[in-house]
Amino acid sequence: MTDPLNWLDERAEERVRAGLRRELRARAPQTGLIDLASNDYLGLSKHPDVIAGAIEAVRTWGTGSTGSRLVTGTTTAHEQFEAELAEFVGAEAGLVFASGYAANLGAVTALAGRGTLVVSDAASHASLVDACRLSRARVEIVPHRDVAAVERLLGARTEQRALVLTDSVFSADGDLAPLAELHRVTRAHGAVLLVDEAHGLGVRGDSGRGLVHEAGLAGEPDIVVTATLSKALAAQGGAVLATGRVRAHLIDTARTFIFDTGLAPAAVGAAGAALRLLREDPALGGRVLARATEIARIAGVPQPDSAVVSVVLGEPQVAYEAAVACRERGLSVGCFRPPTVPEGTSRLRITARADLTDAEMDVIATVLTDVLADARQEVAA
Ligand SMILES: Cc1ncc(COP(=O)(O)O)c(C=O)c1O
Repeated sequence: MTDPLNWLDERAEERVRAGLRRELRARAPQTGLIDLASNDYLGLSKHPDVIAGAIEAVRTWGTGSTGSRLVTGTTTAHEQFEAELAEFVGAEAGLVFASGYAANLGAVTALAGRGTLVVSDAASHASLVDACRLSRARVEIVPHRDVAAVERLLGARTEQRALVLTDSVFSADGDLAPLAELHRVTRAHGAVLLVDEAHGLGVRGDSGRGLVHEAGLAGEPDIVVTATLSKALAAQGGAVLATGRVRAHLIDTARTFIFDTGLAPAAVGAAGAALRLLREDPALGGRVLARATEIARIAGVPQPDSAVVSVVLGEPQVAYEAAVACRERGLSVGCFRPPTVPEGTSRLRITARADLTDAEMDVIATVLTDVLADARQEVAA
């Protein structure tokens, strides 16, 4: 018998030749590396209060949620956290999911379907892309940040309902969506605007309330916000923040809510504690942006609008070798290659944290300056 999975080896070889093989590298609890790769933007994932929040929740509720939220998986801790997070971002209500990915799938598929037009930014996160595919709606992808294209599609549609999708802070480049203009257009055309605040929460807006809040759009009834608890909130899980009516609709119809085990108590406890820390120290978000600005200056790239500093180097191999060189000299940085980013734009994706020390910034300056000089020389050769 010929092994029906032989094609996997051919594909793997193709990826090796293209410099696109991915590796899982287990890390030790203490790596000794300066972490510029994670999404722990506020540096809270090892904060004693956040750890205590997780432990307390496990002691009270156990290690798992024990079932779907609709059967056994809802605790008072879930409900309290949902209310607190909603209040923080200025929404009427919140609903947590097992991940940000599941929140996006659940929200989009519950709010769109046959007879709906879904318009999505070309750079929307993969979870929104997959949500579009699952939605059974007519899906149109518009060029990145192109509000006029959104308006044209909404104006020409035959469907009664329409949903426009965008990240608030785009995950690969760290740039911002034109939220005020998008909302003006969606409102004028009777469409709903769904904004993924995965990289905006905790970083942008007053005390980290997010870019929707910063744009003066918090609480608008025709805006649905999704978020992850796995980045600034240092935990795991996702949330949809919207009106109580949307929350009730998701409880009734969102498949990733109904058919998925409820968010683990530890994640609820940790995210709740991180949210309290964010409230107590409203400057945390500003500190991430300040560190990101310093890193961008060192790397010789434009000033960032978020924690993400993207250093485009071009070919995958150059970006990969630069990431390895950083690691050998004590810096852990992200390396984004196709299909995560378009061909020819492989890059180092460097993320700032609020708790980076001045001594760490000195190391970052020395290593990045050297590694990037070498990488750029190789590109120019
Ligand atoms: C923009 C965006 N949305 C959604 C997600 C998914 O969130 P989670 O990791 O909680 O599933 C991510 C995670 O990387 C993201 O960057």
